[in-house]
Amino acid sequence: MSTDEFPTDSPAIVTCGLPYANGDLHIGHLRGYIGADAFNRALETLGQETAYVSGSDMHGTPVAVNAEQEGVDPAEFALDWHEQYEETFPKFNVDFDNYGHTHDETNTELTQEIVRSLDEEGYVYEREIQVAYDPDADQYLPDRYVQGTCPYCGEKARGDECDEGCQRHLEPGEVEDPKSTITGNPAEYRHRSHKFFRVSEFSDYLTEFLDGLEGTSNARNQPRQWIEEGLQDWCLTRDMEWGIDYPGSEEEDIVLYVWVDAPVEYIASTKQYSERVGTDEYDWERVWKDDGEIVHVIGRDIIQHHTIFWPAMLEGAGYNAPRAVAATGFITINGKGLSTSRNRAIWAEEYLEEGFHPDLLRYYLTTTGGLQQDVDFSWDAFQEKVNGELVGTVGNFWYRSLLFAYRNFEGTPDADVSEEVEERIEGAIGEVREAVNDYSLRGIGQAATRLAQFGNEYIQRNEPWNLTDDDPERAQQVIRDCVQIAKAIAVLLEPITPNKSQLLWDQIGEEGEIADAGLEAALEAPPRNFAEPGELFEKIEDDRVDELNEKLEERVAAAGDEETESDDTDEDETADMADGDEETSDLEPLLEDRIGFEEFQDVDIRVGRIETAEGIEGADDLAKLEVDIGFETRQVVAGIKQLHDLEELPGEKCILLANMEPAELFGVESNGMVLAAGEQADLLTTHGDAEVGEKVR
Ligand code: 2FM
Ligand code: ZN
Repeated sequence: MSTDEFPTDSPAIVTCGLPYANGDLHIGHLRGYIGADAFNRALETLGQETAYVSGSDMHGTPVAVNAEQEGVDPAEFALDWHEQYEETFPKFNVDFDNYGHTHDETNTELTQEIVRSLDEEGYVYEREIQVAYDPDADQYLPDRYVQGTCPYCGEKARGDECDEGCQRHLEPGEVEDPKSTITGNPAEYRHRSHKFFRVSEFSDYLTEFLDGLEGTSNARNQPRQWIEEGLQDWCLTRDMEWGIDYPGSEEEDIVLYVWVDAPVEYIASTKQYSERVGTDEYDWERVWKDDGEIVHVIGRDIIQHHTIFWPAMLEGAGYNAPRAVAATGFITINGKGLSTSRNRAIWAEEYLEEGFHPDLLRYYLTTTGGLQQDVDFSWDAFQEKVNGELVGTVGNFWYRSLLFAYRNFEGTPDADVSEEVEERIEGAIGEVREAVNDYSLRGIGQAATRLAQFGNEYIQRNEPWNLTDDDPERAQQVIRDCVQIAKAIAVLLEPITPNKSQLLWDQIGEEGEIADAGLEAALEAPPRNFAEPGELFEKIEDDRVDELNEKLEERVAAAGDEETESDDTDEDETADMADGDEETSDLEPLLEDRIGFEEFQDVDIRVGRIETAEGIEGADDLAKLEVDIGFETRQVVAGIKQLHDLEELPGEKCILLANMEPAELFGVESNGMVLAAGEQADLLTTHGDAEVGEKVR
């Protein structure tokens, strides 16, 4: 791995968290898989050698429990889902170079080899521990077979994860008040001997690893806290039949913990790709053992696995460390937690059946909020984004400029691109490069839509329709510029809307795949002639949105009723979701007292820009910020370190309550208050061009 900016001379690998092969894919899954796909495509446009791989996660209790509920063999059950996923991803233009699964030979062998080398290096030992057991079912209760209370935050938790609270991984025996999910009875603890990986020995290594880790700041900050609290060793084995055997073990009914073999699939899938295309084209060993740029895109609930256990495994077994971990926030639906058991989800197949183009969802999911922010999906917001940005800005510019060019010049007019437009396109290319290096998908989309905004403004300002008679040469120049801008937008937007970009590419008479073009193509002249263009985006009408809202409400209501009747204990089993209704009950209740507009006017809220950000001695979460608010620079103290990396804040816009009484915190004066959301203090910012000092109303 290098620390050079992308594109580098080393091959990259982009991965996304493996979906458990246990149920339908939904919008929460798609956010990660589309996000990683878009990032991989963006790297390609920069000229980076790269591949995108993943696979289905076939083992563990997430699969065993669901297979059992359906009375099927877990292997058959998981394979069925795996095959469905293989069909679904291409429908969303998610273009894996290899999509394998964890139960195949490559992954089984590689996992056993890695565990064997950890063992040989002295990183594995055996220890007797307490394991939950259900006497009625006569069965040990690993992971999802047991539920109880998280010992760290007191929330309801599964055997191996605090999925509804602090998101920590839990070791066998840790969950308090354990109950069997098979019978609902309290579980008893029994002594069992299990294999452990000495993760605690990697504390110093991991601290250093995190210092250099790129991606989103949540993927660095949370694990730093866990390391400070002291790392525990990690139990590698489980009392169950479904999974990969511990290498060389004769013991029946003991397999490797699913989280051991799941990430190894990243390597196994790369290996399969390499074997298919040949190592001259893409060398998996170079990537994983030498200088590869490894980029993991994951849900934020699996940060610990990717920034503690996985890098320790890689280091212990002599593999390369990840360059970046980009952890996405959760998805909510109409402001409430996505819940598969309550049918409050947008299902992948359902979305397509409604007749929407996949690129619309790709655009929505990648450009709404930053990667690590929670994203709310509602059909209304979807409509607004599609109609406003894709139809109104991008599509409108594409269509009007190409149609004008076609009608007046039968294609691209003979002229050179003006200096102004060339510079503007170069600027947009620069923004994309920067966004890729910042792991900002939204930044890539914004570079393209801002260029389209410029295009609309340019055509409006120059009014070529008034020039065709009086100044045909000037009209030719303006339209030549517009065709170039249209092509540039298509190139820039390709990682996000690959299919629509290809259609535009075809419309302007370009040959081949836009995906192979590279960012420089944005400045290369399009062919001279092209046919009459068609419109590429269609407006979503209000009655369509009403209909979709009704359908969603009805099925959530239906699932809710059924659930009360059947006492369904099924919880959302997906990686990247906020779970269940508890999500809403955690919110602070709305205040009943209303205030008038005049009272609101007493609050002076301004747009600011953070100039500097530094920690405060003795205060873990606090930071001292210098914030430019147009009239002056304010020093404020803010409790934002939990989520935000201070190094990344300078230059960011924030929202500041300017007429807050000054206060002193940890001996540092605070003259104002930056606004932030939720317990993690997610800093508020602006999403348009609001200037520093502007009032927030
Ligand atoms: O949490 C999950 O959904 C897991 N199936 C993710 C596995 S990602 C990886 F590391 F393998
Ligand atoms: Zn917890």
